[in-house]
Amino acid sequence: MNEKLLNETALAMVAPGRGILAADESTGTIEKRFKSINIENTEAHRQAYRDMLFTTQGFEQYTSGVILFEETLFQKALDGTPFPQLLAAKGVIPGIKVDKGAKDLAGAPGETVTEGLDGLRERLVKYREAGARFAKWRGVITIGNGIPSDYCIHTNAHALARYAALCQEAGIVPIVEPEVLMDADNTIEVCEDVTNRTLEAVFVELGKQKVLLEGMVLKPNMVISGKKCPVQADRQTVAAATLRTLKRHVPGAVPGIAFLSGGQSDEDATAHLDLMNKMGPLPWKLTFSYGRALQAAALKAWGGKNADAGRVAHLHRAHMNGLAALGKWDAALEKAA
Ligand code: 13P
Repeated sequence: MNEKLLNETALAMVAPGRGILAADESTGTIEKRFKSINIENTEAHRQAYRDMLFTTQGFEQYTSGVILFEETLFQKALDGTPFPQLLAAKGVIPGIKVDKGAKDLAGAPGETVTEGLDGLRERLVKYREAGARFAKWRGVITIGNGIPSDYCIHTNAHALARYAALCQEAGIVPIVEPEVLMDADNTIEVCEDVTNRTLEAVFVELGKQKVLLEGMVLKPNMVISGKKCPVQADRQTVAAATLRTLKRHVPGAVPGIAFLSGGQSDEDATAHLDLMNKMGPLPWKLTFSYGRALQAAALKAWGGKNADAGRVAHLHRAHMNGLAALGKWDAALEKAA
């Protein structure tokens, strides 16, 4: 294992004031996003949309890396440059989502386990050749009546560690993403408890499977009220609970933590990250790896045809989150824009 290379890449992914754009929607997920703007889900539209995002002038100032879907890793930009080369030329590290999605977990109604380990070693070699320097695997933990079970948490943690070890063997930095969903009606206290259980299991498995902590990035959910909970914890409470939970489980050897946005509003996702960074000093870098919270405004402004408007919206969110990664964001900057 090339420990130095893995550590350098992980550090670059969480460099000060920069974060990761998650643009790795599967063909099924991007269909949902395109439906919201009445765009047909064709390969040409997916190419044009991602071309708009990646040719946003200046976004590289705030963006250390982009997570791509497999199709995009092997696709060309509109000017004919392969997407990974286009990104690398701007100093943006190309990454790749390698999991095959969350599938029903046998004997555990309402719970899932993420698949994609079979053949992963061979796929990683191909991805590296195509320019990928980091990867992502998302385990999904659902809160509900009597769930998550320890069975589900442990099965997903085990798979995350197997994936991470294979990535490091291939010289690819694993983004380890155990996502506790925020879609239910649970309180923030329940989210904190489940996130504690999840992160505890994940770091036990990473240790058992000899994953180099210095050569990975953690991508967790924030500790937050479920979307359908009648009582919504305020921003200060979310930031404090999230930091408390992370400090209990994430060793200081991990270079950085890059949050998912999980369905938070654009501004909440930015404000929470900013608040946490203002509460430092912290043992690791704290930044973003947002999908929806970086793309929603850009998608709407683009609308299938207006690339320039899409780029303006993308650059604004990237800029705001870049400031939040430094604890230098201010709500007034949103109004000014
Ligand atoms: P969201 O920020 O939209 O949650 O997406 C991030 C991601 O990569 C989920 O796997």
